Amino acid sequence: MFLPTSSATTYTNKLILRCYNKKAHMPEKITPEKTIREEKLTKDYPSINKGEVLVPPDAKFETLEKSQPHQKARKEKPRIYPDRFPVPDDKVSWGADYPDYDPPSFVAELVLENDCIRKQGGWADPESIEATKEIRDIVSYEGVIRYDKEGYPLNPRGRTGIRGRGLLGKHGPNFAADPIVTRVNVTTGQLEILLIQRSDTGEMAIPGGMVDYGEKVSSTLRREFKEEAGTELDFGDAELVYQGYVDDPRNTDNAWMETSVYHLHLEERGMDVFPEAGSDAVSAQWVVANQENLRNLYASHSASIGETIKKWQEKAKKVVRKDGAVGIPAA
Ligand code: BGC
Repeated sequence: MFLPTSSATTYTNKLILRCYNKKAHMPEKITPEKTIREEKLTKDYPSINKGEVLVPPDAKFETLEKSQPHQKARKEKPRIYPDRFPVPDDKVSWGADYPDYDPPSFVAELVLENDCIRKQGGWADPESIEATKEIRDIVSYEGVIRYDKEGYPLNPRGRTGIRGRGLLGKHGPNFAADPIVTRVNVTTGQLEILLIQRSDTGEMAIPGGMVDYGEKVSSTLRREFKEEAGTELDFGDAELVYQGYVDDPRNTDNAWMETSVYHLHLEERGMDVFPEAGSDAVSAQWVVANQENLRNLYASHSASIGETIKKWQEKAKKVVRKDGAVGIPAA
């Protein structure tokens, strides 16, 4: 069937093709094919008391809860951002009256240079929200997005003290994927997680990255893991741990990070994985899952790992002690 198109439609279609190839894209969920295999029962697992457990079965991670106000997105920022307008706890919600709220607006030069309409292969939306809405739908894992009077999307967790996109390329949600890869070290009996040291902030982090437009989450996990930890892994068996908003220091009132966190437990197989730092990382290494190592990770990564350990303990019928040792819950 042939439908005549106006020149305006043709122009828009060209832009859609240039920027995204497809109209709407939100990374899909991977359906896990199988559950974690039972570990061999040949090991002598220590018996671990309730009080010694690293992540109690009823642990709650505030930053992963929709109802909780963000912290880093109000109190931290990349160096090039202007100071955030103060947002007290009781003024975070868009519903709270804050007539004096007058945050600075900031969009990084790097973002403007990567406008996908102006630059072939650019990874950012055009600055105009109308132009963006013409070439793609703005969708979120957090549900229906609210918009301000000028038509810009509003951060689902509330005020951040900065307007504009900051360092984020997309108006609204910017999608990342985070692979959490674990093993039980056969020599020490401890649970270990593969982490990198980020070159931008120097913090330890999950080797995650941004989902390219139209890319499958499983491909992002594989690509990022290879790029940052130097190892090829298949994430087909990985389990979804969390999908939604991330309390990230780059977030603004109009642009924010959302992620899909997947867990792949390698059991003893992990002993054959030798990480090497890739392009975006200073180092990549197996890190013992103990209290000290997991305390201050990048963005919401401590919470994502905590949630992962909680789910894994339940499935594997094991518990992780505060020093990382894997054991059996004491009767
Ligand atoms: C990182 C992810 C992280 C996301 C949100 C991305 O830049 O690579 O690991 O979850 O930002 O903070």
